[in-house]
Amino acid sequence: VKVTYIAHDGTETTLDGAEGDSVMATAISAGLDGIVGECGGSMMCATCHCYVDDAWSDRTGPRKDGEDDMLDCAADDVKDTSRLSCQIKLTAELDGLVVHLPSSQL
Ligand code: FES
Repeated sequence: VKVTYIAHDGTETTLDGAEGDSVMATAISAGLDGIVGECGGSMMCATCHCYVDDAWSDRTGPRKDGEDDMLDCAADDVKDTSRLSCQIKLTAELDGLVVHLPSSQL
């Protein structure tokens, strides 16, 4: 499942993630800058904040319970498309997903 991460400076990185892995875990295992994922995906840190590309926001679905509260702690502005990337699991339907990374995560 291909996921393209677009950094704040415009740098694009496309990774091939496994189905069932999260957008966060895929980035961490590739050592991608811009996603920290401090809590390991348990919705406790908001350092995996990303903005889902407009073309994909319908397919990634709504935020999960608790995501809104945690996003309040995110370092960067929260927009309508903001998600915790640990809560987006890769599926075949998400092949080609594009997410934008905030300018800071800490
Ligand atoms: Fe901590 Fe997503 S990795 S909230």
